[in-house]
Amino acid sequence: MNDTLKAFLLFTLKYLKPFKQSFFLGLFFALLASLLTGLGTSAIKPAFNIIFVQGRHEYFWLIPIGLLLLFGFIGLSSLLQAYYMKITTTGMVNLIRLTLLQKCLNLPYELLAKERTGQTVSRVINDTAQIEPVLAESYQILIKEGLTVLVLIGVAFYMRFDLTLLVLITLPIIVYTSKHLGAKTRLARRQTQLATGELTHRLTEALRGIKELKLFPSQELVFNLFEKELKRAFRYAVKITKYHGASKSIVDVMNGIGGALVISYGGYLIIKGSLDPGAFLSVLTAILLVFNPVRKLARAYTGLKEAQGAWSRIDEVLSLPEEKAEGKKPSPPQRGFELRNVSFRYDESLPLALCEVSTDIPARKMVALVGPSGSGKTTLIHLLLRFYQPTSGEIFLDGELINNFNLREYRNLFGVVLQEPFLFNLSILDNLLLAKPTATFEEVVSACELARAHEFILKLPKGYHTVLGEEGINLSGGERQRLALARIFLRKPPIIILDEATSQLDALTEVAIESALERLRGETTFIVIAHRLSTIIKADKIILLDRGRIVAEGTHDELLKAEKLYQNLYQSFMRQEV
Ligand SMILES: Nc1ncnc2c1ncn2[C@@H]1O[C@H](COP(=O)(O)OP(=O)(O)O)[C@@H](O)[C@H]1O
Ligand SMILES: [Mg+2]
Repeated sequence: MNDTLKAFLLFTLKYLKPFKQSFFLGLFFALLASLLTGLGTSAIKPAFNIIFVQGRHEYFWLIPIGLLLLFGFIGLSSLLQAYYMKITTTGMVNLIRLTLLQKCLNLPYELLAKERTGQTVSRVINDTAQIEPVLAESYQILIKEGLTVLVLIGVAFYMRFDLTLLVLITLPIIVYTSKHLGAKTRLARRQTQLATGELTHRLTEALRGIKELKLFPSQELVFNLFEKELKRAFRYAVKITKYHGASKSIVDVMNGIGGALVISYGGYLIIKGSLDPGAFLSVLTAILLVFNPVRKLARAYTGLKEAQGAWSRIDEVLSLPEEKAEGKKPSPPQRGFELRNVSFRYDESLPLALCEVSTDIPARKMVALVGPSGSGKTTLIHLLLRFYQPTSGEIFLDGELINNFNLREYRNLFGVVLQEPFLFNLSILDNLLLAKPTATFEEVVSACELARAHEFILKLPKGYHTVLGEEGINLSGGERQRLALARIFLRKPPIIILDEATSQLDALTEVAIESALERLRGETTFIVIAHRLSTIIKADKIILLDRGRIVAEGTHDELLKAEKLYQNLYQSFMRQEV
């Protein structure tokens, strides 16, 4: 069998199982419709011969009644097969979508963060939209029209072997042109898609960067790029029409030649008396009826070819490795984290972001990570959260390799606030409940009070029920950070990580929040990356990083005495605070 067809069938077979019943019903009605069509064409011979050749005109009324009944049943079967096939294919596409979403959620962050995988995954979302119509059409057409073609050709051969063969002579030429020009059309179509994709990309980019565009004298540049892509898309669109038109007219000419051959040869045979007119009509009808399904089959095949890239990409994404989920249930830290010779690089081509880091993060203490920007503070946190795996070295929690813990439960130990917290296009309340779905409204409010978010939330048009991202509701960086902190107060996780979590707050708010966090001290393990001296001084332990290495660790006083880099940082902090 053809590779495309085989790959398509294998791919879809995986998702067909839950819809077996409707699929077989669809198949049944498809078969029925084709058999009825075959029956109709083979009935022409006796009907014509008896009524017209033998002159039994009293049976004439059978023709309209028979036709009516026949087409009625064919119509009904076609309708039912379309209905059941649609149920099957829509169900399959939805299943593919759900499987993909599930997969994406379970992909390791490390993979998703990679440019290439990230792109593939987002392309795949489009791909499902692209394969839906192909899947729906192809299955119907392949099955129904395929069966019809087989039955009709069977009938024609049975009636008159040589006549049928004569028509089929033109078939290879039709197939060859469709294939050859089809390939060219496909290529042009793909180029158009690429060009259109580039257009959309340029447009979104321009709109996203509109502020900069308006400020720089660079508008023409964007306009020219846009125009260039537009012209490219236009050229390909013209090509498509050319190839498509050519292929269509060649097929039409071939049909004409086929028809001429049959009629002349058939007519010759009838005149000679070696072919009865009924059989001739039967064959002619079968052949005429076969053209439409053949054309549909060819179109479905082209559709399959076009969608092949899409489903092989879906397959590729679905075969990516998932995050390992199973493992021990972790309990809140008793002793704390231990890092042993941990090195990490984001990519083989990049230098080490962390180099031979060995240290302890004691439980229920506050550890501050300090260092110039780019020194590896955030990277260290990525590793603790198991977003990335160390290139070498190990990380333990209470003496157990962190990789041995059940991933979800392990991450549940943490509450993390990042510099740019992400909020979903949901109400404020729902955004907060993500952290703790079982929380009562009162709990949410008191968490927001601790995070100094309550007041600004009340000022929003619908308070806690304001949906973010709608009606022009957009929160400032500081407000986002306060909501992220409220999530922490709501959950009170055993480990709290703050990565420049208060960087966009004013000093007063920050102090208020810090004193609220202070109440969690003693029971919570804190890991903070702070930009303010007041926070760092309070830490039980400071880890000083520089270019991926630990330069020193200890308390503020110890470091201030011994470390040049720390003294320098201290100086710059002091200048900031003043
Ligand atoms: N996703 C990433 N891919 C490649 N390199 C990265 C990535 N994130 C950070 N880096 C690099 O790793 C180093 C440490 O970065 P990071 O941990 O973010 O520093 P810090 O948080 O201390 O400012 C920097 O050189 C940075 O450019
Ligand atoms: Mg950082």
